[in-house]
Amino acid sequence: MTPPTAAITPPVAKLFRSSPTDAAFQVCIEPTCRATYAVDQTLTSCTACGSLLDIGYDWNRIRVPGSMRWFEQRWSRRNQPLDFSGVWRFRELFPFAPEESIVTIGEGQTILQNSAAVANYVGVQHGNLFLQYEGLNPSGSFKDNGMTAAATHARMVGAHVAACASTGNTSASLAIYASSTKAFRTVVFIGSGKIAFGKLSQALDYDACTVQIMGDFDDALARVREVSSERGIYLCNSVNPFRLEGQKSIMYRVLEGLGWEVPDWIVVPGGNLGNSSSFGKALAELKQLGLIDRIPRLAVINAHGANTLQQLYNEHHVRWNNGNVPLETINRFYAEMDLNSRRADTIASAIEINRPVNLMKCLRALETCDGVVRDVHDQEILDAKAQVGAGGFGCEPASAASVAGARLLRAQGVIAPSDRVVCILTGHQLKDPDATVAYHSGNRDMFESKLARRGVTETPFRNMPQGVENDLGKILELLARLD
Ligand code: F0G
Repeated sequence: MTPPTAAITPPVAKLFRSSPTDAAFQVCIEPTCRATYAVDQTLTSCTACGSLLDIGYDWNRIRVPGSMRWFEQRWSRRNQPLDFSGVWRFRELFPFAPEESIVTIGEGQTILQNSAAVANYVGVQHGNLFLQYEGLNPSGSFKDNGMTAAATHARMVGAHVAACASTGNTSASLAIYASSTKAFRTVVFIGSGKIAFGKLSQALDYDACTVQIMGDFDDALARVREVSSERGIYLCNSVNPFRLEGQKSIMYRVLEGLGWEVPDWIVVPGGNLGNSSSFGKALAELKQLGLIDRIPRLAVINAHGANTLQQLYNEHHVRWNNGNVPLETINRFYAEMDLNSRRADTIASAIEINRPVNLMKCLRALETCDGVVRDVHDQEILDAKAQVGAGGFGCEPASAASVAGARLLRAQGVIAPSDRVVCILTGHQLKDPDATVAYHSGNRDMFESKLARRGVTETPFRNMPQGVENDLGKILELLARLD
C-alpha cells in the first residue's frame, strides 16, 4: 500500500476552527484547578498552576459509536490513509483534529500475538498470555502512535520546527515523521552514551539535527524544554498532551485483538510514564462511554536501576488520591536522589529515567485501573527478552520488563494462572543489537562491559553461534547434532 503521506501539504491552522474539534479542549489535570485552554494553544503545562494537561472532550457534542465493533467497518477501507492507520481509524475516540490536518505515515499496524512459550515462562495457562508488538510501527516502537497525534497538532498550529529529548525511540519517531512528511524540521536531544545504536542510527539517517549533550535523559529533557520555550519550538515529548491521545489507540487495538473482550491485566514498562498514563485515560473514557463494561488492571514495571515510581508507590505509598498527591514526599525523594548523586542505570536504556514527567498522570491511571507497580532486575529483563525472542518476534530490553514483571506478579500470586494477561512490547528487537549479542554470543568482553557491571551473572537462555571449520564434512557433522 502506498504510504499515505503524499497528500500532506503545509500547515493549515485555520481549517480546524470550524471543525468538530470545537468540542475538544485542553484541561489541567489538577482537580482544584481544572483550567481549560483551546486546542490551538501550544502548551506543555497549565499556565495557572503548572500541572500537566489532558485533552478533554465534551462527549455530549461528539458522535461516538455505540459499540467498538463499529470500527470494524474501517478494515474494508484500508486504501484510505486515515482508515489504514491503526491510530486514526479510531479517531472518534480522540476527536481533536480535523481530518484535513492529520499527519499519518501508516502507523499502528501492530498485532496481538498469543504466545504459548511466554505463557509457560510467565506461569499462566496456555492461551492466556498475549504480546502486543508495538515494535512493528514504522520507526520500530510504540512512539509512532503518539507522534502521529503530536505531528498533527504541530501542523494544526503551524509549527516549523519540532524537538524532543529522548532515550532513542522518541527521537527516531519524531525524525521519521519529519523526514517522510516534511511537515516540519526536527531537533533531537540525546544523552551521551545513553542511546542504543539502532535508535541513534535512525535519527541520523532520517536527517534530524541531533544534539548530544553531556548528561543523561533527564538533563536532555530539561534542556529541550528550555530551548523550546526560548525559541518557540514545538515540543514532542510526552508532556505534550496530544501525544498521549494517539497512544490511547494501543489499548483499542489490544481490545480489537481480543475480539473486543477486556483482558484481566495490561502489563507495561514504565519510563517517563506516558504509556501507562495514556492507557488509564483510554480505559476510563471507554468505560465512561459505555464501550467496555469493566476496566482491566494495570501493572507498571520499572527497571530496578530506574525505579522511581516503584519506590514512590510501594515504599513511600504515594497515591493519586483524587489529586491530593503528597508533593513533599516526592520532593524529598528527588532531593535525596540528587544529594546522593543517584542516577538511573539499567541495560534497558529506553527506561533509564530518574524523574518521570508523567508521574501524576500515571498515579491517576493506577487508581483508575486498580494498578500495581513492580521493578525487575536487568538479569530478569534479559532472560525474559530471550524468551520473547525464542517464542516470537522479539523485542528490545525495556519492552521485556513487561514480561519479567508479569512473571514476578504471577510468582507473587497477584496474577492468577487463569488470568488473561497482555504484555506491551514497546520496541523492536533490532533497536538494541548490542544487548542481544552481549547476552547470546558468549563474548566475554561484551558480557563484562555491557551486562556484568549491571549485575547480570548468567545467560540461561543463551543461543551461541557455533564456530565451525570451512569444511562441508565438519558442517554436516555439526548439523547432525540437530536431529
Ligand atoms: N519502552 C520503550 C522501548 C521506550 O522507548 C520507552 C520510552 C518506554 C518503554 C517507556 O515508556 O515513557 O511511556 O513510560 N522511551 C522514551 C524515549 C523515554 O525517549 O524514547 P513511557
